[in-house]
Amino acid sequence: MHIQNICCIGAGYVGGPTMAVIALKCPEINITVVDNNPEKINSWNGPLDNLPVYEPGLAEIIKEVRGKNLFFSDDIAGNIENSEMIFMAVNTPTKTEGEGAGMAADLKYVEACARDIAKYSKSDKIVIEKSTLPVKTAEKIKDILEENSNGIQFEILSNPEFLAEGTAIKDLFKSDRVLIGGDSSISGQKAVKALSEIYNRWIPKNKILTTNVWSSELSKLASNAMLAQRISSINSLSALCEKTGADINEISTAIGMDHRIGPHFLRASVAFGGSCFQKDILNLAYLCKFYGLDEVAEYWHQVVKINDYQKNRFVQKIIDFFDGDLKSKNISIVGWSFKKNTKDTRESPSIHVASRLLVLGAEIIVLDSLVDKERVKLDVSEWLTRYGLSIDESKELLTKIRLSQSFENNNSDLISIIHDIDTVESEKLKSNNIPIIKI
Ligand code: NAI
Repeated sequence: MHIQNICCIGAGYVGGPTMAVIALKCPEINITVVDNNPEKINSWNGPLDNLPVYEPGLAEIIKEVRGKNLFFSDDIAGNIENSEMIFMAVNTPTKTEGEGAGMAADLKYVEACARDIAKYSKSDKIVIEKSTLPVKTAEKIKDILEENSNGIQFEILSNPEFLAEGTAIKDLFKSDRVLIGGDSSISGQKAVKALSEIYNRWIPKNKILTTNVWSSELSKLASNAMLAQRISSINSLSALCEKTGADINEISTAIGMDHRIGPHFLRASVAFGGSCFQKDILNLAYLCKFYGLDEVAEYWHQVVKINDYQKNRFVQKIIDFFDGDLKSKNISIVGWSFKKNTKDTRESPSIHVASRLLVLGAEIIVLDSLVDKERVKLDVSEWLTRYGLSIDESKELLTKIRLSQSFENNNSDLISIIHDIDTVESEKLKSNNIPIIKI
């Protein structure tokens, strides 16, 4: 099956960059990324220095392919109808109400996509799960598609995305592997082949792994759980280091040189953040519980609990530094996004740290060139609302936050480093001769 038109539903951190790279590598395929948020579509069509997603190398690709074979549109119906292949790259946050609230993935956006696909399709489609989904979701999607369509054939594939924010383009160009889960039927295998051929334009065949749908769906959750587990493992040891005089960086180097362990994801930090790890592990734990595997659920849940513990431990270090009195203390927070090279602040540990410090009376100076003041204020006000503060109380605290672009001439009482900064910035910070706190 030769694919000429692709539609991707969801113009976010995954939909935008992945489709940009496919468009670059497959100039003969027309790709349209659609979203039900017209503002986001406008920004994807707007100035290159203000795209909704920042990733090193992304703007250059958009410049090359936008308007040629990559388009951003809010015409969901028309683009579903016109495409032979449809990616679903919508968000799958943790459920906030109903059964499984606080643990299970909320599939309402994916289900809405499936209903749209069924409603607007007039010919057979390959439907691809790009979002991270609980194992067995394809069954649910199939039911929705079949219930709402008029005899059209849908082939569902799972093709989870393994890119990491901050290195998305590099990851997409040189993926460790591309995973495609499909049905073993003839039509299922035909669909797998069609998608493999697209990736094979730049990914070697031996890195395109095909599995059954359930293995593919579960591999993504398992992969994120294993990655986050490494961070929680090293972070738990950082607490022991601080009690004993061992140095966590020396420990990381020493254990990471063991080839069975390896060096990646072994740097201690204030916590992992981002939109994925926490929600995916909670989702995994929920699935385990659902299948009656309580001990397994608890094992994975502990990874999230250590992450929360580490954030609070970091705040406690700051409180101890000031002997418990934070009133009117100026504290710099270096890094607002959840990591370097992204403007994504979802679940960033800086939000928790700064908000707790504000509640304790501190004033906050944020240093992060990729994030603007509106974003910072929104993040903090959401945290304060969850914490139970009234609108007026929150408003008052928000006046105690300012942003700074300068790593020199910092006049705070303490500098707290939340995420990696480069050596030049680090030297500039040191030149202030202000105490620095980090994990
Ligand atoms: P996002 O929130 O950045 O983007 C999702 C987009 O989908 C939003 O722009 C939203 O407006 C749109 N949308 C939601 N429902 C829609 C509907 N019914 N019709 C049209 N548009 C709709 O989310 P992100 O970060 O791109 O994540 C998407 C999925 O990919 C999630 O399942 C996530 O777990 C997974 N993932 C995310 C990674 C990341 O680094 N952000 C990496 C790998 C996977």
